[in-house]
This record gives sequence, structure tokens and C-alpha cells, in this order.
Amino acid sequence: MKIAVTVKEVRNQVNEWRRQGMSVGLVPTMGYLHEGHKSLITRAVSENDKVVVSVFVNPMQFGPSEDLESYPRDMDRDAAVCEEAGAALVFHPEPSEMYHEGFSSYIDMNTLTEGLCGKSRPTHFRGVCTVVAKLFNIVVPDRAYFGQKDAQQLAVVRHMADDLSYGIEIIGCPIVREEDGLAKSSRNTYLSNEERKAALILNKALSEGKKLINSGEKDADKIKATISDIINTEPLARIDYVEVVSWDTLEPIKEINGQVLAAVAVFIGKTRLIDNFIIS
Ligand code: PAJ
Repeated sequence: MKIAVTVKEVRNQVNEWRRQGMSVGLVPTMGYLHEGHKSLITRAVSENDKVVVSVFVNPMQFGPSEDLESYPRDMDRDAAVCEEAGAALVFHPEPSEMYHEGFSSYIDMNTLTEGLCGKSRPTHFRGVCTVVAKLFNIVVPDRAYFGQKDAQQLAVVRHMADDLSYGIEIIGCPIVREEDGLAKSSRNTYLSNEERKAALILNKALSEGKKLINSGEKDADKIKATISDIINTEPLARIDYVEVVSWDTLEPIKEINGQVLAAVAVFIGKTRLIDNFIIS
């Protein structure tokens, strides 16, 4: 497995694979890889001849008061995880390689990005779309893999790929959880022991919401209220949002119908965690 730090190295390698008629999968990440990331890489390896994993903590998607500086990083471990999962190339650029001085072109979207995480992170999806568009242009993969853990991001990237005619297949992959139900996240490392226990409330509340839907409840407000009430029983938890939306439009719904996304963002202490489920 190779590690590339420049765009040129990636292009040269991918061009060589293309000349040999090989298909290429891309897994974009910000590193500090865990089983969730690994499941994306494994899936990509099973569906493509060669897989590129990008490891880049993208400054553009962090707000001014967010955790860009403290975001966990461990490139040696990440490289080992990628190699073990069968990736052929890791792209690990410096910020200056991705954003040269005077960088001033952005991808903005005016649907899908206003609600959910976009409400409390108003510049986040501009940063995500811009970096993902750059990675798509650098690697030009056949397929790109994204986790349902970041459901809004998956919807936004799919929409962008379609709007901008990338011709890249966007593959959504299921949420990987710890044994006790907590969704795996690089940010879980911020949690103290006490907070780690408190964080279980996200999955617990969502599971109750799912049960309610499965038992025939159609009133989205009731489902939201049940999820919120359960989260509010946890003293260390502070809700950023609890939403029940159409998985198609990400718009809030009144009645459960079609594909529905129930999503939460909750501060556990200072750490903001997200989780969700999609149900038909
Ligand atoms: P990051 O948070 O590192 O996540 C990289 C990919 O792994 C995303 O598609 C995310 O949804 C997926 N992922 C994270 N935790 C997961 C879990 N528990 N189960 C399944 N998949 C999981 O998302 C980003 O980075 C960035 O925004 C990025 C797309 C790389 C752009 O900078």
C-alpha cells in the first residue's frame, strides 16, 4: 500500500490503474479510523479493483468554535488499518496541498443543507461538498463510499454527485456500533467514562422511537417527543436537535410515510454526538 501526500502522486497512480482497465473506489475520511470506517473500506475493496482512502481533517468543514485543533489524529495507526482492510493507496495531504493560497471556489447547496446539522453548523456542508468535490476530481473513482452514520452528509453528497454529473456511484453503508449500541465515532475518544455511559442515551432513545413506528404510530411529533423525553432523562445530555424528516427531502414531516429519517444531535458534556435510523 502506498501513501501519497500530493495530488500529482494520486493522479499518476490512478492513471496507471486506469490504463490497466481497473476500477477504482474512494473512501473519504478524516482519519482516526475505527470499525465504521473500516467497514466502508472493506466494502469498497470487495466492489473495486483498487481502493483509495483519503485521510484529511478538512479545516473548511469546521466552524470557528469547533474542534479542528483537537480533532484526534494518528496517521501510523490509520495506515495500518487501511492496509489491513486492503486499500491500495492512502491520500494524506497537508491543508496547503488541498487549499492553495487564494483558494476561493466553493460548492454550495441550497436544499438539504439548511436543517438538521446545517442549522447549528451553517458552513459545514459547504466545506464537506467542496472537499468531496475536490477528492472526486482528484481520484475520479467509479464508486465512493459514505456511512449512514452521517445521514445528511450521505444525502447531500448524493445530491451533489447527481447535480454536478459526476457519474460516480455513491454507496451508503450501514452504521457500525459498539457492542452496547453507541455508534462508532472518532469523537467518542473525547468522552470521559461517565460521559461514555451517558452517550448510550442516543441509541436507547432512537430504539424506542423505532419501536413506536414499528408498532404503528404515524404521528411524527409523538415520535420526536418520545425520543426527546428519553434523552432528557440523562443529566449529562443536552439536545441540539431531534428531527423526524423525509429521507427524500430531509424536510420535517407530520405523518410517518415512505422512507423516514429520525436523527438526533446531542451534546454529552462538550462533545456533540449524532445518531439516526432510516425506516421505510
Ligand atoms: P469521517 O467522520 O472521518 O467519516 C468518514 C466516513 O466514515 C463517513 O462517510 C462517515 O459517515 C463514515 N462513518 C463514520 N462513523 C461510522 C460508523 N459508525 N458506521 C459507518 N460509517 C461511519 O465524514 C467525514 O469524515 C468527512 O465529513 C468527509 C466525508 C471525509 C469529508 O471531509
